[in-house]
Amino acid sequence: MKTALVTGAARGIGLATTRLLLEDGWRVAMIDRDAPELARAAADLQNILPVVCDVSIPEEVEAMVLRLAETWGSRIDALINNAGVAEFGPMADCDFAMWRRVMETNLDGVFLVSQACAPMLKEARGAIVNIASISGLRASTLRVAYGTSKAAVIQLTKQQAAELGEWGVRANCVCPGPVRTKLAMAVHSQEIIDAYHDAIPLNRYGSEQEIAEVIVFLCGEKASYVTGQVIAADGGFDSTGVGLPALRE
Ligand SMILES: NC(=O)c1ccc[n+]([C@@H]2O[C@H](COP(=O)([O-])OP(=O)(O)OC[C@H]3O[C@@H](n4cnc5c(N)ncnc54)[C@H](O)[C@@H]3O)[C@@H](O)[C@H]2O)c1
Repeated sequence: MKTALVTGAARGIGLATTRLLLEDGWRVAMIDRDAPELARAAADLQNILPVVCDVSIPEEVEAMVLRLAETWGSRIDALINNAGVAEFGPMADCDFAMWRRVMETNLDGVFLVSQACAPMLKEARGAIVNIASISGLRASTLRVAYGTSKAAVIQLTKQQAAELGEWGVRANCVCPGPVRTKLAMAVHSQEIIDAYHDAIPLNRYGSEQEIAEVIVFLCGEKASYVTGQVIAADGGFDSTGVGLPALRE
C-alpha cells in the first residue's frame, strides 16, 4: 500500500485530498496542528495515521516524521505540503509579527517538512506536491505576506525538482484559485466573491474536490514524467492577463 503524508489535513483542500487518496487505495498520514478538528476529520476514516503537529516548529516536524517511520516504515510515496494560513491587509498594517505568522507556516513549514521527509521520499522515489496559490502567480493588494510566501513556494518547488530528480523524486506545485474553505471565507467579503466571479473565465469558485483531483494526479504514476511544474487549478484566472469584466460580452 502506498503511503502519503498530507499537511493541513483536518479540513478544506487537505481533507478532500486525503479522502481522494484513500479512495484510490493509499494510506494517509493526516497532519494538522488543530487537534479537535483533526480528531473529527479522522473519526470515520480507515487507513489513516492522524498526527497533531505544527509544521512551522522543527522539533514537532522531526517527531512527527519519526512517528510515521515507526508506524508505517521508512518510505513516503507522496508528500502534500498543503497546510497554510491567510492574513490579508494593507502593506502598512503588516507588521513583522504578521509577516512571520504567514511565512512560518506557508514557507518555513514546506521547507521543514520536505527536509525531514527527503530521505523517505528518496527511498520510495516519491513525489512532492506543494500547494501555493494564484496569489503567488498574480500580485494583488492586501497580500504582501501571503502572496510573497506563495511565490516563494513556487520557487522552492523548482529547487526541489532540480535537486531531487537525481533520486527519482518529483516535485510539482498546485496553485488553487478561490475555494470556499474556512481559510478563504475568513478573508473574502461578498464584494470580493462577486469580483472573483466576474474576473474568472469559468465565473465561479472551485471546489475542494477539483483541487484535490489535480494534486492526486501529480502524486501518482500517471504523472511519472512531470516534475518542476506549476499548475493553476483556478478556472482560468491566471491565464487572463487584462481580464477586465468590462471587456467581456
Ligand atoms: N481556499 C482557497 O481559496 C485557497 C486558494 C489558494 C490557495 N489555497 C491554499 O490551499 C491550502 C489549504 O487551504 P484551505 O483553504 O483548505 O484552508 P483551511 O483553513 O480550510 O485548512 C488549512 C488547514 O491547515 C492547518 N494548518 C494551518 N497552519 C498549520 C500549521 N502551522 N501546522 C499544521 N497545520 C496547520 C489548519 O489547522 C487547517 O486544518 C493552503 O496552503 C492555502 O493557502 C487556498
